Amino acid sequence: MRTNTTLVINPKGGSGKTTVATNLASFFAAHQVPVALMDYDPQGSSLNWLKQRPATLVRIHGANAAPAKAGRMRSLDMRVPEETQQLVIDAPAGASGLLLQEMLGRTSCILIPVAPSAIDIHATANFIRDLLIGGRIRMRNIRLGVIANKVRNSMPTYQPLERFLKSLDLPLVARLSDADAYLTAAETGIGIFESEAAECTQFQPIVEWVGGAQARVQPAVEKVVPLRANDKLAPARSVPGIIRRLWQPPTT
Ligand SMILES: Nc1ncnc2c1ncn2[C@@H]1O[C@H](COP(=O)(O)OP(=O)(O)OP(=O)(O)O)[C@@H](O)[C@H]1O
Ligand SMILES: [Mg+2]
Repeated sequence: MRTNTTLVINPKGGSGKTTVATNLASFFAAHQVPVALMDYDPQGSSLNWLKQRPATLVRIHGANAAPAKAGRMRSLDMRVPEETQQLVIDAPAGASGLLLQEMLGRTSCILIPVAPSAIDIHATANFIRDLLIGGRIRMRNIRLGVIANKVRNSMPTYQPLERFLKSLDLPLVARLSDADAYLTAAETGIGIFESEAAECTQFQPIVEWVGGAQARVQPAVEKVVPLRANDKLAPARSVPGIIRRLWQPPTT
């Protein structure tokens, strides 16, 4: 199966890239989808987050793609397991040039978290325009969606952001509130889907946008073997136990 790669990026520091990347990765882990988190940031926030994760949780593979330092084999550190179905990339603030091109080169969709403030929106708007003008996004059919992050209850919608997105016909994928659950997730290595925080509901549109059918996980189902006419003569058959499976999209 092809790996679906999601790049979480914004030139502004502190906009929520690592928060979105780690919680997205942990959603897939919690639902048994083979997932890897690739950190392009020399700060290594996502990789540090992985180190906090309790060993009892499903493992998320960490890949270090930060620019190489002496004595490091970057290509080795960047490798992800072959069975990876979802790759989430955490970009550094201010990524540009060759590093940005490298990240775009492996991306299927781009998520841009943005804080609803005039300064953040201004920086983000310029970045999105540059991305679109470059033409690479449209040429390679890369989907682009924006997340309003750290939304305050007192201002649930921020008109300048909505207007900007509308002008470029870009989707506002989700609104994430300014909530303690994200701080707790950052400190503990346990994603909001794994702690079953109330914020899962507002994050759900992100996993659906990224993962499509993979994000709609069916509950465990009992696999029932239908009876045939002569079954009553046959020795008792054991019914296979509970099987957990992910609903797979029909191949197009
Ligand atoms: N929705 C939210 N509610 C509360 N706190 C949040 C939220 N989103 C992010 N934070 C917090 O804000 C800080 C910055 O977030 P984060 O590290 O995700 O941003 P970033 O874009 O990755 O930053 P950098 O550019 O430095 O890599 C962190 O302390 C994080 O826990
Ligand atoms: Mg970060």
